[in-house]
Amino acid sequence: LPFIMLLVVAAFIVAFVLLLYMISPLISPKPLKLNGAHVVVTGGSSGIGKSIAVECYRQGAFITLVARDEEKLLRAKKEVEKYAINDKQVVLCVSVDVSSDYTQVENVIKQAQEKLGPVDMLINCAGTSISAKFEEMEVERFKEMIELNYLGSVYPTRAVITTMKERRMGRIMFVSSQAGQIGLFGYTAYSASKFALRGLAEALQMEVKPYNIYVTLAFPPDTDTPLLAEENKSKPLETKLISETSGVWQPDQVAKIFVRDAVQGNFNSSVGPDGYMLSALTCGMSPVTSITEGLQQIVTMGLFRSIALFYLGSFDSIVRRCMIQREQSKEAD
Ligand SMILES: NC(=O)c1ccc[n+]([C@@H]2O[C@H](COP(=O)([O-])OP(=O)(O)OC[C@H]3O[C@@H](n4cnc5c(N)ncnc54)[C@H](OP(=O)(O)O)[C@@H]3O)[C@@H](O)[C@H]2O)c1
Repeated sequence: LPFIMLLVVAAFIVAFVLLLYMISPLISPKPLKLNGAHVVVTGGSSGIGKSIAVECYRQGAFITLVARDEEKLLRAKKEVEKYAINDKQVVLCVSVDVSSDYTQVENVIKQAQEKLGPVDMLINCAGTSISAKFEEMEVERFKEMIELNYLGSVYPTRAVITTMKERRMGRIMFVSSQAGQIGLFGYTAYSASKFALRGLAEALQMEVKPYNIYVTLAFPPDTDTPLLAEENKSKPLETKLISETSGVWQPDQVAKIFVRDAVQGNFNSSVGPDGYMLSALTCGMSPVTSITEGLQQIVTMGLFRSIALFYLGSFDSIVRRCMIQREQSKEAD
């Protein structure tokens, strides 16, 4: 009898989970239509931001590219325009430093809205990175990271949020990093600035959800962009060896996933199996946009934590090995 009871309970649980999976799409946000939408992409003149602009443009969006260098902006505009799907589409370029003066950012966003209409989707992708040992990092760098990677996302968001709330619709993406999910050797300044985006994104999502505005926190892995090439020039050996344990992605692969998740209104957006595991592991109290996602997190958390402990052990041993090698070569000298 106990065995039959057990079977019945198991059958109920399976049926309940299946039911949740089936109704999950019904309670998820309605996808945003990109055709005809106005999408603002900060950092849109290069790398991941440019690929996101292309992905949105090929789905019929109107694009505002935001960055500082005007020549780079114009080159990116020409590239994005190749992917038009109708002759009404426009790519607008706006040159501004998103991290220094809020009033300036607010003014340029206002001008862009006057030309292309209210912003339907804001992609905060402008950012930079630096990798060095904590004590070797110039103190100024800590401030720069917070200014660009954190405030550079706060300012454009602040400039669009009131209109989005009035219209009761919108999407906001913050481009963080896998280094915004785990703190790794060499990223004391960078990780802190990207972790800050998580607090911002979670708190903002709770404020704006009743207004039908959805926030996406995107976690790119190492992606083949000018920024990664620059960072690689001065990466400490430890950071290089740890990074090599996962691969390098192309910006258009990453952009496709991020745009899909923002359109769906998903809070977490991650790339590849490592990204999936990290997002489930670090979900904490972050919002879920579907029951499916919540169930997956509940089921996988313990297993992923066990795998993560192996990763952490191997990263620690890389760091220890490098330290011993350095000390030995010092002694030999
Ligand atoms: N590539 C990776 O491996 C990787 C991994 C994880 C996370 N990420 C994140 O992804 C985002 C994009 O990185 P990416 O690799 O695509 O970099 P990227 O190719 O160097 O592009 C950075 C973009 O941001 C703009 N920008 C930089 N500072 C700015 C400022 N103060 N004001 C306005 N625009 C500014 C740049 O144009 P201007 O210089 O002309 O202003 C450029 O358009 C960053 O937030 C980065 O942290 C990248």
